[in-house]
Amino acid sequence: MPSSRKSFAIKCIIAIAVMYLCIHVLSNTGASQAIRQLQQSGRNLAALDPQQNVEPLVVEPVKEVYNVEATKAVVETTQKPQVSVLDKVKEITKCLDRPMVARVQQRGDYWVLYNYVMPEKTFKCHESITYTTHADYSFMDNLLPLLDKWRGPISLALHAPGTDFKNTLDSIAYLRDCTDSLVKEYVTFHIYFSTKHVPKEVPRHNHVFAEPFNCSSSPPFANVSSDQMYKSQKKLLYPVNVGRNVARETAQTHYVLPSDIELYPSPNIIPQFLEMIADNSGPLLSKNPKVFPLHLFEVSANQQVPDSKTKLKEMLANGTAVPFHKKLCPGCHSVPKAKEWQTANETENLRVFHVGKRNGKFIHWEPIFIGTHADPLYDERLSWEGKSDKMTQGYALCVLDYDFLILNKAFLVHRPGIKVYKKDQKRAMLAARTNQLIKKIIFPELKVLYGVRKGCAV
Ligand SMILES: *[C@@H]1O[C@H](CO)[C@@H](O)[C@H](O)[C@H]1NC(C)=O
Ligand SMILES: *[C@@H]1O[C@H](CO)[C@@H](O)[C@H](O)[C@H]1NC(C)=O
Ligand SMILES: *[C@@H]1O[C@H](CO)[C@@H](O)[C@H](O)[C@H]1NC(C)=O
Ligand SMILES: *[C@@H]1O[C@H](CO)[C@@H](O)[C@H](O)[C@H]1NC(C)=O
Repeated sequence: MPSSRKSFAIKCIIAIAVMYLCIHVLSNTGASQAIRQLQQSGRNLAALDPQQNVEPLVVEPVKEVYNVEATKAVVETTQKPQVSVLDKVKEITKCLDRPMVARVQQRGDYWVLYNYVMPEKTFKCHESITYTTHADYSFMDNLLPLLDKWRGPISLALHAPGTDFKNTLDSIAYLRDCTDSLVKEYVTFHIYFSTKHVPKEVPRHNHVFAEPFNCSSSPPFANVSSDQMYKSQKKLLYPVNVGRNVARETAQTHYVLPSDIELYPSPNIIPQFLEMIADNSGPLLSKNPKVFPLHLFEVSANQQVPDSKTKLKEMLANGTAVPFHKKLCPGCHSVPKAKEWQTANETENLRVFHVGKRNGKFIHWEPIFIGTHADPLYDERLSWEGKSDKMTQGYALCVLDYDFLILNKAFLVHRPGIKVYKKDQKRAMLAARTNQLIKKIIFPELKVLYGVRKGCAV
């Protein structure tokens, strides 16, 4: 007996040593060098090469661009679902309201200022859908075009380490005080930073803005070059999944659309989606857990984002619109029955076009979908730079046998500018390391936690 216990102990020690080695090798060799160089290569959140391909958005004082009064009228008439619809949604989802409360809390290696700047409107869980997203301040120019399309609650988590914090606060102030009133009405801002990069000063949440912002200064988020940013100076990675999770967890509504801030939705999704939920027929009655993927597109830099499926079809026909990342990573975003979707005419009501699964040809699909708080979250060890940041969630959805109820006329369009493939050796190196991390460490964990199912992969 003692000898078998001894050999067990030896096995344990060997196993621990091997694990230690793995982690050590993964987290060290050359990675920091790669990260450093990567950080110097420019704006790098959701686009690989924006400088070259994407026209800067014009950020003008919004009074001219967005007519606030006209906006209100549209919101009143087209965005508000009927009371009977909302009652049904409440009955069907049996959702619980989620209060919006400011709090400061640690989350792994990060401090998070949850609900740091809150909007005027709050929502009961059945009343809307929350667009949940993440960014740093240099991407905040996307908020206005996004709001213009969405006209509903947005939960935005901002990465703001060190001196980026001040610029982030100024950007929030500018957007709230100097642009469209929709910002004050609908957007909740959360802020997070590493415990190693705490800003010098952090105002209490109800004293963030002592006085109105001077609107004659230029928007603090316009024309930010990467070397101006603390994040780049300190060679930090972008902790994309911390932001994604913070934004999603704090959403007040039962339904959420976790997305990237540069992806603008087609109009009227909120009332039409809730009507579909209230109608509660067809594939909605299935017992499987469900999410509702949206088709993704890119349009040429000189084009407007299409405001209907009919317009989108015209743009696909003349080549000014293409499916998302068609040239970059077709496997990641191709959607089941995509050809049929593109040829199908726009219908009056929003409905489910097709029920897909994340398997077979779509085993590596990274869908963006309307889901709920019940869906698996994102792995916070993965960074934007290392890629594959949504793959572990995809695996969990597959094992849990989710139905992917693809919507027939709702879609997302990336901020204008079509991406082309550009070789980036540093990012490729980081991506290779991330793949190792997923394969050797995260995937075995997922198998323990969620189990396995034939046809599922990360
Ligand atoms: C606002 O900024 C403008 C331009 O920077 C400056 O001329 C003006 O004096 C400022 N106004 C106030 C009230 O500080
Ligand atoms: C940003 O840069 C563009 C092009 O260089 C310039 O036209 C624009 O005026 C700048 N915007 C601001 C707010 O500085
Ligand atoms: C393509 O179609 C769209 C939508 O009808 C239109 O706005 C655009 O001008 C067309 N572009 C070309 C190059 O034909
Ligand atoms: C789709 O719409 C076009 C243009 O309105 C029309 O010509 C075509 O017949 C429609 N197709 C179907 C299958 O209804």
